[in-house]
Amino acid sequence: MKILVTGGAGFIGSNFIHYWLKKYPEDDIANLDALTYAGNPENLKEHENNSRYTFIKGDVCDKELVNELVKGVDAIVHFAAESHVDRSILGPEVFVRTNVLGTHNLLEAARQNGNIRFHHVSTDEVFGSLGPKDPAFSETTPYNPRSSYSASKAASDHLVRAYYHTHGLPVTISNCSNNYGPFMFPEKMIPLFVTNLIEGKKVPLYGDGMNIRDWLYVEDHCRAIDAIINKGKIGETYCIGGDSEKTNKELTQTILNLMEKGEEMIEFVKDRPGHDLRYAMDYSKIKNELGWEPAVSFDQGLKKTIDWYKNNQAWWTNVKSGEYLEYYKKNLKNSILRKSLFSRQP
Ligand code: NAD
Ligand code: DAU
Repeated sequence: MKILVTGGAGFIGSNFIHYWLKKYPEDDIANLDALTYAGNPENLKEHENNSRYTFIKGDVCDKELVNELVKGVDAIVHFAAESHVDRSILGPEVFVRTNVLGTHNLLEAARQNGNIRFHHVSTDEVFGSLGPKDPAFSETTPYNPRSSYSASKAASDHLVRAYYHTHGLPVTISNCSNNYGPFMFPEKMIPLFVTNLIEGKKVPLYGDGMNIRDWLYVEDHCRAIDAIINKGKIGETYCIGGDSEKTNKELTQTILNLMEKGEEMIEFVKDRPGHDLRYAMDYSKIKNELGWEPAVSFDQGLKKTIDWYKNNQAWWTNVKSGEYLEYYKKNLKNSILRKSLFSRQP
C-alpha cells in the first residue's frame, strides 16, 4: 500500500509509522506534518534513510500541497491535530483551524482524487463526561463534547461521516481512549509526571485527583487502526479502549511506587476548567467484528513507558527545553515535496 499519514511526527503518528513499516516493510509511507511544537522528526530518525519513508513538512490546511500529495495514494490515515485539552482552553482558534478545516481539506482532496480510502483518528472525548456509575461510551453514545479540543474533534468526525453519506468517500473512524507510551509529548500527564520525577520535581495533580481515564498502550492503538484499515467496514466507527480505568490519583501513586518516590512529590493544583470527570470505552464492537483487544496490560505498559523515558533522557530534555525546534529548523533533512511521491517502482 501507499499510505499518506498526517501528523506522523507526533506521538501516536510516529508510533504508527514505526509499527506499520516493521509489519509491512514493502509499503510506502509519506508523512505530512507541519512540525508544530508537538511534532518532532527525531521520533522517526530510524527511518531517515529508508526509501519507503518520505517526510514532507507541510500543513494539512494547505489545499495545493494536500491535493498534490494524495495523488497515487491508496489510503490516508489522519492523525494530525492539535491534541492537548489545556492548550485548547488557552488558545482554541488553532484547534478549529487544524482539526476542523484541516480535516475538511483532506476529505475534499480525497474526494477529488478518486475517492481515496480515509481513516480518521478520533477520540473518546467527543462523547463528553461520564458519571462514576454510567455505562462506558460506545459507538451509539450521542456526542456531547465539552472542551474546544473535543468540540473540534467532534466537528471533524461529523465531516468525515458527511463525506461518506453524501459523496460515498470510503471512510472509517476510530474513537480511542487515553494513549501512553514512547514519544509522548511531556505536557500530557504520564510523560510530564515521569520526567518531572526523574528531574526531582513535583507532579501537579489537578483538583482532587479523582478524575478517571481509560489508559491504552500506544502500540495497541496502532494494531487497532491496522485492523480497521485492513478489515473494517466502510462507513463504520470503532471505539477503542484499554480496560484500564484509573483515577489520576491512583495512577500517580502507581508511578510514584514504580519510581520509588513518596507521596510528598504530589502537588495538588487548581483544577482544569470544565474537567471531564470520567472516560471509559466499550470496545466490544471491534473485538467481536475485527478480533482486536488490548495486548499490553497496564502494569506492563506503564513499566515499559517509565523505562523508555529513563533511557531516552536526551529526547525529552530537548523537548522540554524547546531545543529540538531550533535544531530541526536548521538541520531538517529529507523535507521535500515531490510531485509524484509514489512514482518509484517497488
Ligand atoms: P500530538 O500532538 O502528539 O501530535 C500531533 C501531530 O500533528 C504533531 O506532529 C503536529 O506537528 C502535527 N500537526 C499539528 N497541526 C498540523 C497541521 N496543521 N498540519 C500538519 N500537521 C500538523 O498528538 P497525538 O497525541 O499523537 O494524537 C494524534 C491523533 O490521535 C489526534 O488526532 C488526537 O486527537 C488523536 N487521539 C489522541 C489520543 C491520546 O491519548 N494522545 C487518544 C485518542 C485520540
Ligand atoms: O481521552 C483521549 C484524550 O486523552 C486525547 O484525545 C487527547 O489528545 C489526550 O491529550 C488525552 O486528553 P486528557 O486531557 O485526558 O489527557 P492529559 O494527559 O492532559 O490529562 C490526563 C488526566 O490527568 C486529566 O484528567 C487531567 C489530569 N492532569 C493532566 C495534566 C497535564 C493532571 O492532573 N495534571 C497535569 O499536569
